[in-house]
Amino acid sequence: MCGIVGYIGSKNVLPILLDGLKKLEYRGYDSAGVSFVSNNSLQTVKAAGKIVALEKKLKDFADEQSSLGIGHTRWATHGAPTENNAHPHVSADGKIAVVHNGIIENYASLKAKLQQNGVEFKSDTDTEVVAHLISHFYQGDLKSAVIQAIGKLEGAFGFGIICKDEPDVLIGARRGSPLVFGIGDNGEYYLASDVAAIVNHTHKIVYLDDNDIVVAHHGGYEILNLQSQTVQRDVQKIDFDEDAVAKCGFDHYMLKEIFEQPEALRNTMRGRLNIADGNAKLAGLEANIRELRDINRIIITACGTSYYAGMVGEYVIEDLAGVPVEVEYASEFRYRNPIIKPGTLVLAISQSGETADTLAAMKEAHQKGATVLGICNGIGSSIARNSDGGVYLHAGPEIGVASTKAFSGQVLVLTMIALLLGRQRRVSFEHGMEIANAITEIPELVEETLKLNSAIRTIAEKYKDAKNFLYLGRHYNYPVAMEGALKLKEISYIHAEGYPAAEMKHGPIALIDENMPVVVIAPKDALFDKIISNIREIKARGGKVIAVTTQDCSPLDEFADDLIRVPTTLPMLMPILTCVPLQLLAYHVATLRGNNVDQPRNLAKSVTVE
Ligand code: G6P
Repeated sequence: MCGIVGYIGSKNVLPILLDGLKKLEYRGYDSAGVSFVSNNSLQTVKAAGKIVALEKKLKDFADEQSSLGIGHTRWATHGAPTENNAHPHVSADGKIAVVHNGIIENYASLKAKLQQNGVEFKSDTDTEVVAHLISHFYQGDLKSAVIQAIGKLEGAFGFGIICKDEPDVLIGARRGSPLVFGIGDNGEYYLASDVAAIVNHTHKIVYLDDNDIVVAHHGGYEILNLQSQTVQRDVQKIDFDEDAVAKCGFDHYMLKEIFEQPEALRNTMRGRLNIADGNAKLAGLEANIRELRDINRIIITACGTSYYAGMVGEYVIEDLAGVPVEVEYASEFRYRNPIIKPGTLVLAISQSGETADTLAAMKEAHQKGATVLGICNGIGSSIARNSDGGVYLHAGPEIGVASTKAFSGQVLVLTMIALLLGRQRRVSFEHGMEIANAITEIPELVEETLKLNSAIRTIAEKYKDAKNFLYLGRHYNYPVAMEGALKLKEISYIHAEGYPAAEMKHGPIALIDENMPVVVIAPKDALFDKIISNIREIKARGGKVIAVTTQDCSPLDEFADDLIRVPTTLPMLMPILTCVPLQLLAYHVATLRGNNVDQPRNLAKSVTVE
């Protein structure tokens, strides 16, 4: 989704803005632009399409020296992805430039008022209103004009703001959309919607809170609230490995992240398993441990891939802890009237920790008195900061838009939470130990699974031109089927549906013919014979079966057109293994079709608007 970068300091701003925008590309965008103050004038350069188009235009400004500027990658919400609608947006007098993430909900009424006052609008965006509104209040003090303008806004925003008449001021403000403030050396300051944009310049970060306004000058800064009072915010030293945001020899971030899974999973489980007690030890839940003993219902809420991880969590928690679990899309949860009674726990899952719907669902749950725990990868993210406790994935930055290592990490965290809840209730010491031991073996088994990469590419070559795919799984692997179909849709643009295998005969079976590849997740478990029957039904109708199975399931040799054999573990842990070939299959199909898998069309990594 949209990205913001800003800088004030002694260096030339353009290379810093361009570099920052490139680091934000992964979030998904369709146009980009920068504004900078140089020789008492405000320059704005924008381009539709990728950052290379902007970079090309900026060649004409190579000699400009400027030490103040803001940049933006836009993912269209209001108005088409044109150059005109790209940010920054500039006030009618050409003095004030604004970049914005989020949505201004009352922009139409503000726009009408400004138009009545004779302001002419140049774009279809909600953001342009903000530039004109600040200009309306501007009387020689940008800070005061911004505070007054923000007082009139409804909706969500992260802003970067500069003014031609104040070449010594960079302003950032947030409500609902993430914004971080970076403190560099020698009085340099950075703004960014995501630390990735500025991490090669500074590791000293302030995570701004809602309604914070940061005002940076050359050599100093202050953070204010809407009443213009100074507020104190901690400066955090972030531990960020720059390799983590580089491709490190892989063709794509997505492939790198698929291959990082063994290490990411090791990091997720590090120090969190107490084998001797057959239990999990989750420091982020220590404060909630008594309360967890008494909970009688869990609602898991999330979006996208995180939602499917939540579905695996439902099965594992109910199996181990016997606590009823419901999984609900955050976008649905937030707008209905969910029943939350004493004893209901809400678990919010989010890779980024910034998904607007998930944040809003948490707010609704808090409103109704629930304790809300977060499962996030984004350190210091809004969801992490707004939860009453939680567990970080520690999977490292995920840059590829299609989530991979976050999914396996989320399933692992949910399994550890299930073990903890189970040991508080009905899981015996022996059973707990068996699970804890099996978890420790998972990274190695994922390593084994990754050896299937080239065999899966060969399978992808066979099916890359298919128009539709069906994914089937049962029990723990039903959510994996859903996730496998989502992966394929996201990056290959092939229509795919995930289904519980037995439901196939209630509809999707009508679609099966010789042109329909069906990916069936069929590990040797209690439901193996059932799924063999489903496979027979597909074959009887001429469908092509790609079976993801375990060793030792000979009957499949007879029926499957293609076999992918993953190692075996406890059934509840199989999703962490079976998801891997599905990630690879989607990756190879998409790259063979020539798609940009890291930045698939129309998608955003972190969806910070509704
Ligand atoms: C977007 C991303 C998905 C992700 C979903 C939820 O749609 O493209 O990969 O699963 O958001 O994001 P979250 O950060 O909350 O897990």
